[in-house]
Amino acid sequence: MSNAELKKQAVARAAIDYIEYDDIVGVGTGSTVNYFIEYLKPLKNKISGAVASSLSTQKKLEENGIKVFNLNDVNDIPIYIDGADEVNLNFQLIKGGGGALTREKIIAGASAKFICIVDESKIVDVLGKFPLPVEVLPMARSFAAREIIKKQGMPVWREGFITDNDNIILDIHHMDILEPIKMEKVLNQIPGVVTVGLFAERGADIVLVSDAKTVKKLKINK
Ligand code: A5P
Repeated sequence: MSNAELKKQAVARAAIDYIEYDDIVGVGTGSTVNYFIEYLKPLKNKISGAVASSLSTQKKLEENGIKVFNLNDVNDIPIYIDGADEVNLNFQLIKGGGGALTREKIIAGASAKFICIVDESKIVDVLGKFPLPVEVLPMARSFAAREIIKKQGMPVWREGFITDNDNIILDIHHMDILEPIKMEKVLNQIPGVVTVGLFAERGADIVLVSDAKTVKKLKINK
């Protein structure tokens, strides 16, 4: 296994310490979370079950014998575990590299505690080097792209990709996101935009980061 995969595995394992008896666990999407699901499997009879942030995560949970609840059938999600594409020192994130940003944002919003699991390569001073994914209704693709250009972004259509919600993704390149909360709001206002992959207003509560040797809790910038 490569070093990068070992780091993902280590941070996924560390997240298990935060799971408590009877929890309904919100489960994100991506390669790091896939390792988390493997570590969650032995706890499947101790937790109540999970809520999935994508069809692929749902499938993987079910394959591992973990009960999956519909979000509409649960009241509280005490904990949400998910990866990210970029994390800043205010625990604000770019997510959606895998295209699951909308359901991820819903579950993050519905959860009491969001624990983000990443390797050290995801930690940045300023968000935006990773192209910012935006989920858009198909009919609004060109219009939303033009509006994004007016806001100094360079949108690129993720051609051939359809989200779990039957929408398309525009990835915004070359943006230094100096004010993430403001940028999240501005992009959210564009008609046709379903979700912006900036998790700034509701970022992570805890960020676990793995390097070659260990997993640490990231210190938030005060
Ligand atoms: C999925 O849409 C994303 O938000 C993922 O959480 C993010 O891309 C991290 O994925 P990896 O763990 O595969 O890097």
